[in-house]
Amino acid sequence: MSTQKRVEFPQDFIWGAATASYQIEGAWNEDGKGESIWDRFSHTPGKVKNGDTGDVACDHYHRWQDDIGLMKEMGLKAYRFSISWPRILPAGRSEVNQAGIDFYSQLVDALLEAGIEPWVTLYHWDLPQALEDEGGWPARMIVDAFVEYADIISRALGDRVKNWITLNEPWVSAFVGYEFGQHAPGHTQRDQAIAASHHLLLAHGRAVPLVRANCPNAKVGITLNLTPQEPASPSLADREATRWTDGYINRFFLDPLVGRGYPQDIVNDFGNPMEFVQAGDMDVIATPMDFLGINYYTRNINRSERISEEENSPRTVTPGDEITEMMDWEVYPQGIFNMLGRLHFGYGFPAIYITENGAAFIDDVGPDGQVDDSQRLSYIKRHLQQVHRAIEIGVPVKGYFAWSLMDNFEWGLGYTKRFGLIYVDYETQQRILKSSAKWYGQAINDNGVSSS
Ligand code: FCB
Repeated sequence: MSTQKRVEFPQDFIWGAATASYQIEGAWNEDGKGESIWDRFSHTPGKVKNGDTGDVACDHYHRWQDDIGLMKEMGLKAYRFSISWPRILPAGRSEVNQAGIDFYSQLVDALLEAGIEPWVTLYHWDLPQALEDEGGWPARMIVDAFVEYADIISRALGDRVKNWITLNEPWVSAFVGYEFGQHAPGHTQRDQAIAASHHLLLAHGRAVPLVRANCPNAKVGITLNLTPQEPASPSLADREATRWTDGYINRFFLDPLVGRGYPQDIVNDFGNPMEFVQAGDMDVIATPMDFLGINYYTRNINRSERISEEENSPRTVTPGDEITEMMDWEVYPQGIFNMLGRLHFGYGFPAIYITENGAAFIDDVGPDGQVDDSQRLSYIKRHLQQVHRAIEIGVPVKGYFAWSLMDNFEWGLGYTKRFGLIYVDYETQQRILKSSAKWYGQAINDNGVSSS
């Protein structure tokens, strides 16, 4: 018998894994689906690494039954997936595509049948291209369009789906899509990103009561990408750089959700008159939620670009030794504890779920046909230990979803980054449970992980 010490989670802790429609489904133009901004973007030469697209992805649209079989084999208790808006409303609004609704309806039935709780994200970045053509998220018309879509799909699934996430990472949708141009629709205007942020938050706030009304006993929340920001040195300049990144990535979304409005320092820094904010909007955005979802991957270390001898001491912090395959994403488990503490003691959400956490590493299929991904296993274990510490100090963390159930299309980086617990051979669509998947299944079964 093992004498290893373990940390055990509360009895009702939710153990899950997550995916997103565009990253896994494929079938980009089948059964009446409309074009999304990611279809358009990935079909535009030069936008995605190696010219990869989500046209086929993991072919989950055809293989979903087998995929649920794998989830069952792992013992997952919950599965977070997103709905493709253009599968439901090919032109963004008005005309409903029943085949799209049927797809998700069958998926939900089969999940429930397998004893796996469905967690639905309404928007994980695949906006109907027709709505982008009308101005996309920077245009206020998008809010009504989102409400119409949220109404249709929550009516269709609301008798069975009890957990709803309105948006995934609105900061990424707004800034990476409309300012940095690295994600669809690939624009490069900061003012568009700021307007997009507001309309995303407003769309969220309008959807919360609607989803509740359509789904008896449903819990509704939003998922934010929250990244702890730390200064590279104690210099004033580095601390100022940290205030800015923390402000426009973290506080600009957190503060309005709890009724504090947009942080004034960031509004000043933007220098945007924010004329798109209308009377009553901030109250709508602050509609109380049942939970906050957070996606946590790494921390950022901020170094001011204004390097002057007196103001900015030399870099004193370098990222730790452990860097994942995802550009410069450092493995920093302590950061999830820090962020959870800040959220609870500084904001006080009624419940928090880790809706994504995971890492990309190079995975190889060994001669025995197995994929030994000990680095990913260790990453997830150490983050779960930190989540447990947060629970011990009173943070109401109610569940954890590993990103991702399976390797998939990693946005602008195409198929070059593998985040899955399950390996996908994109040539044959064969799936292999990696060692992390088997380990995770055991953790679910034990309702805990070893403490070392
Ligand atoms: C998050 C996204 C998710 C995935 C991971 C690696 O920002 O929500 O779709 O790409 O990063």
